[in-house]
Amino acid sequence: MFNLDGQVIPFQEGDTIMDAAMRAGVYIPHLCHDPEFTPHGSCKLCTVKVNGRNCSACTFPAAANQTVFNNSEELNEIRLTLTQMLFVEGNHFCPSCEKSGNCQLQGVGYELGMLDTHFPLFYPQRQMDASHPDILLDRDRCILCSLCVRASRDVDGKNVFAISGRGIHSELVVNAESGLLEDTDLSADDRAAHICPVGAIIVKRHGFEAPIGERLFDHQTVGEWSLDQFDTGEQAWQRD
Ligand code: SF4
Ligand code: FES
Repeated sequence: MFNLDGQVIPFQEGDTIMDAAMRAGVYIPHLCHDPEFTPHGSCKLCTVKVNGRNCSACTFPAAANQTVFNNSEELNEIRLTLTQMLFVEGNHFCPSCEKSGNCQLQGVGYELGMLDTHFPLFYPQRQMDASHPDILLDRDRCILCSLCVRASRDVDGKNVFAISGRGIHSELVVNAESGLLEDTDLSADDRAAHICPVGAIIVKRHGFEAPIGERLFDHQTVGEWSLDQFDTGEQAWQRD
């Protein structure tokens, strides 16, 4: 057992703090984590304080007698700043995005009470890839969570995506000589085509099937949704 915001949380051998907290019904904000995949630890949104040190809950092992803080003003301020940075590093135009209302980045913004982007927008130049007959890749919206990389490699066995470069020069690349999705064997039935937490990878000809107002986060918070997803074992790709 360990202590999370004053609550006693049981854990199992091999659990991370995220695993144990979510199983106990405690939401820890996250974006690059999906319980189905090996943790990546890149977005840092799940930062918690463990025995006085900041750690990523999705990668840090649970251990007996830890004192963990999650839902504190200090940590939520850090998470808000990280979320605002994700918004300004890309080109996110929520009102015209097909993923609006189903987008976890937007959902986390709501959860953290984000009212503006705070930082100046970078307006990066990023390449759109509409070459595939069934799938669109809009890098403007990519938050480099690597979920598509892991889904394609670990579930689909295709290795279609990779993240290349470092820091602000990081980008999602397609593993084909041309660099285009049309030259891969990515299919609209692949897990990688449905795992994106934002609107960077979307399946064509399904836009706005669910009207605005009837989407995931129109009815529940991203926290409630994440816990529900953990409970049922049902993953995002099965829900969009
Ligand atoms: S395309 Fe989507 S799933 Fe892939 S790295 Fe970018 S945000 Fe993550
Ligand atoms: S959810 Fe833990 S680092 Fe992204």
